[in-house]
Amino acid sequence: MPFSNPRRILITSALPYVNGIKHLGNLVGSLLPADVHARFHRQIGSEVLFVCATDEHGTPTEIAAAQAGLDPQAFCDAQHARQADIYRRFGLSFDHFGRSSSPANHALTQHFYRRLDAAGLIDERLVPQVWSLTDGRYLPDRYVLGTCPHCGDGGARGDQCDACGNLLDPVDLIAPRSALSGETRLEVRESRHLFLRQAALRDRLSDWLDARSGWPPFVASLARSWLTADLKDRCITRDLAWGVPVPRPGFEGKVFYVWFDAPIAYIGTTQDWAAAGPGRDWRAWWWGEAARETTYVQFLGKDNVPFHTVGFPATLIGSGEPWRTVDVIKGFHWLTHEGGKFSTSRGRGVFLDAALDALPADLWRWWLIANAPERADVDFQAARFAAEVNKDLADVFGNLVQRVTRFARTAFDGRVPEGGEPGEAARVLTAEVKDRVAAIRAHHEAREFRRAAAETRGLWARANAYVQETAPWSSVRVDRARAASATRVALALVEVGATVAWSIVPDLAANVLRATGAPASSGTPAWPHDLEGLILGGRRSGSQLSHAFEPVTKFGAAHLDFA
Ligand code: MF3
Ligand code: ZN
Repeated sequence: MPFSNPRRILITSALPYVNGIKHLGNLVGSLLPADVHARFHRQIGSEVLFVCATDEHGTPTEIAAAQAGLDPQAFCDAQHARQADIYRRFGLSFDHFGRSSSPANHALTQHFYRRLDAAGLIDERLVPQVWSLTDGRYLPDRYVLGTCPHCGDGGARGDQCDACGNLLDPVDLIAPRSALSGETRLEVRESRHLFLRQAALRDRLSDWLDARSGWPPFVASLARSWLTADLKDRCITRDLAWGVPVPRPGFEGKVFYVWFDAPIAYIGTTQDWAAAGPGRDWRAWWWGEAARETTYVQFLGKDNVPFHTVGFPATLIGSGEPWRTVDVIKGFHWLTHEGGKFSTSRGRGVFLDAALDALPADLWRWWLIANAPERADVDFQAARFAAEVNKDLADVFGNLVQRVTRFARTAFDGRVPEGGEPGEAARVLTAEVKDRVAAIRAHHEAREFRRAAAETRGLWARANAYVQETAPWSSVRVDRARAASATRVALALVEVGATVAWSIVPDLAANVLRATGAPASSGTPAWPHDLEGLILGGRRSGSQLSHAFEPVTKFGAAHLDFA
């Protein structure tokens, strides 16, 4: 099995735009599964580096800052801090949460440009652009509004008409105006820009793609569809002030396109991580021989596939330097919201701050991973969400933990009971648990998140059935030794059930592990090994159960009043 236990694994999540609080769709489409994968790999002993950052440059940031009355730097400082806080509360365990605007990323972006230029892969071209006399700036296509020449809709944008779906050029619009000021005094001016000659790299990119494996089929075929004969050269500069300056005569006042510098920030953030602590070497993750043992996995939504299968690899490969490129791209479809699209601009959907105000992070984490849009779009519905979370976490797992730990505390003096011999039922059970734990591990290794969650749920249900069958609370009066052994086995099952779920529901798992008296109930619990020793051999016999389990509280869909 490829990468079944890589010595070193680099994990990145697509970088969220700095502007605004993200919604559940952003969380499940990259950040959360990346976190689950990072946690799982730490559990099995891999050396993990998990980095992410805010994606800070570009026109939308510049405009949002202006609307907030701040300069872009101050605006991004505040937005970055807000997002970092929310991701921490969601339990996202980044080794570093950086910023695409960091000095390291500026330097790297300019470095890549110089290497690409030296390799003959940069062209200068004149591009017609809309200039707004009143705004005193060039307007990106989607900041020009007007009437659609195809359907007559009055709210068409310069890149597309949402009413009829036609792609447009700003010059096509009837009665064009600026989206910023409403100003109609617009003219087309030629502006000088740099193009990355992607077409010249097509064969190398194709060979590169052929050598990858383990991608979800829809990601691989999306990637292929971009690497066709009409692969376009890409404009990598913009007429903007906020961004990485272009170090080239005649390009004063221009910056690199945000999609050029953002993926480079995966590397820039690793450099920032390395600079923040002793003994850290960014090259071990990114550069030549040093990174030979590193497996690199990217998590991202399907709209990001072209930039990660064409744009960023073109930058890395075109540089002629030995940069580590991605091994596996784990892409996701969309999460929709009650039948429609999540939309930040329309405020439609469940936003992460509201989600955390309503419920503990693990409840969201569990449902989103168990229902991750891996093979098709998935719809979020508050009623379904409440029913499934209540069932899995409160009725099945929470109830199991509650019954077993409470019984051990009252009937066995708050200790893992000693004495009694596990019988045939426990031996059969242990063999089955071993298989299930191996299956959960295999699903995590294959980044099959829904399957990992489903199998975890299956393990919980099996443990519940065992407790139901053996019913130690009944047998304790007639055969104390039998009840002791059944309770000890049940406590071990609870411990295994929490340990293998930890990557998905870390707070709940830690709460459970504390209640079973397991060691190392803070920090990363190691993946279970020696299940016989734990379940049948009574490895924890006699240890104290000093903490009570805090039960999982059920909630109703009405509790999610924003949904
Ligand atoms: N900010 C982009 C988005 O949300 C993703 C950028 S990923 C990166 O779609 F690699 F370019 F950083
Ligand atoms: Zn139209």
